[in-house]
Amino acid sequence: MNTPRKISIVVFLLLSSFLSALEPTKARTGEIDQIWKALNELKAHDFSSFEHCCHVASYAEIIANNMGLKPEDVQEIYLEGMVHDIGKLDIPTSILNKPGKLTPEEFGKIKTHPIISEKILSKYPFLKNLIKAAKEHHERWDGKGYPRGISGNQISIEGRIIAVADAFDVMTSKRPYGKPKSNEEAILELIDKKGTQFDPAVVDSTVLAIKSHKIVIQPACK
Ligand SMILES: [Fe+2]
Repeated sequence: MNTPRKISIVVFLLLSSFLSALEPTKARTGEIDQIWKALNELKAHDFSSFEHCCHVASYAEIIANNMGLKPEDVQEIYLEGMVHDIGKLDIPTSILNKPGKLTPEEFGKIKTHPIISEKILSKYPFLKNLIKAAKEHHERWDGKGYPRGISGNQISIEGRIIAVADAFDVMTSKRPYGKPKSNEEAILELIDKKGTQFDPAVVDSTVLAIKSHKIVIQPACK
């Protein structure tokens, strides 16, 4: 993440903290340090998970903008993207980067990461706002997702947007299994899963953003 981006996020967090709680910001600055520390730990643990968070944050920011969300909500969704997979800190890299199919036990372990993300973020009251997408980005519109099996609008807009951004990055990235899909192939898959896995409105906005070249595959970490 480059310095101007980092500064703007810190300013946003401090300002929203000040306005929402009117509490001294010293402790909050400590919490921001903690989250940078956690992101750096994720970077060291598994660089591809960190890179994935950067991509998802960038895609989610564009999708949220396209959907007409307020600028402060767009900024929050960007941050939610950055931390949405922080729980992967607790998943062994032998599982995260395993070439080939995961065993049921390994997949069970992977499925714990939204709960772990929630636990990590909930340690910091200031970061509570960023928990929604972390715990809900593997929920599905039809209720067949995890960890809670909630559906439709029970899933926060943050969770629904990050779910699509996350899937788009997985589809278009080089992974231990399978080759990356092209934009066109990814669009077809998103449309195929519209109304089952994904919120139809989020898919429509994402497809528009891809077709109008607002979304560029594999953006550098800002
Ligand atoms: Fe995830």
